Amino acid sequence: MVRAGRSTYSSVAITLHWVIGLLIIANIALVLAGGPMTWHKSIGITVLVLSLLRWAWRLGHRPPPLPASVRSWEKGLAHALHWTFYLLIVLIPLSGWAMSSGSPKVRPLQWFGLFDIPFLPVERGGALYAASHEFHEIMGLAMIGLIALHIAGALKHQLIDGDATMHRILPIVSPPKG
Ligand code: HEM
Repeated sequence: MVRAGRSTYSSVAITLHWVIGLLIIANIALVLAGGPMTWHKSIGITVLVLSLLRWAWRLGHRPPPLPASVRSWEKGLAHALHWTFYLLIVLIPLSGWAMSSGSPKVRPLQWFGLFDIPFLPVERGGALYAASHEFHEIMGLAMIGLIALHIAGALKHQLIDGDATMHRILPIVSPPKG
C-alpha cells in the first residue's frame, strides 16, 4: 500500500518501468532494423506479461506526488501520457499477438524457441486480423514519438527545471539541492 511521504516510486514499479521501457525500445529498433521476427514476437509477449503485472501493481500502489513546483499543464500532459502508455504497453503487444494468430500465413509462435504460445481465436485473414495489423503498425510507430516526448519531459525536469521528478523513477539521481 501507499507509504505516507514517499518521494520515489516503489522498487517494483521502478524495476518494471525500466525493464518494460528498455524492452519496448529494443523491440522497435529490432523490427525496424529487420531483425529476427521470432525475437520481436518473444520480446513483445514478455512485455505483455510484464505490463499486466505493472497494471496489477498499479492497482495497489499509487505513484508518489509530482514536485509541487510542476505547473498544472505539465502535470496534465504527464498524466495523459502516462495513462496512454499504460494502455499501449498492453494493447500493442496484444494486437501483435492477434495479428500473428490471424495471419493468412500460418507461422509457428514460440517464446524464444522454448515453448509454444497458443494462437488467439482470431479468424485467419478476417476483419479482426486486419484491424490488429493496422493498429499494431500505427501505434507501434507512434510509440517512437510518445517515448521521445516522455524522455524530453524527463530531461527538461532534470536539466532545466532542476526539480526532483527524475529522482522518483531513478533514485540514484539525487534530487537537486535548494
Ligand atoms: C513491445 C511490444 C511491441 C512493440 C512496441 C511492437 C512494435 C512494432 C513495430 C514498430 C512494428 C513495425 C511497423 C511498421 O514498420 O510498419 C511491428 C511489426 C510487427 N510486429 Fe510488433 N511490436 C510489439 C509486439 C509484438 C508481438 C507480441 C507480436 C506477435 C506475437 C508482434 C508481431 C509483429 C509483426 C508480425 C510485425 C510485422 C507486421 C508486418 O509488416 O506485416 N509484435 N511491431
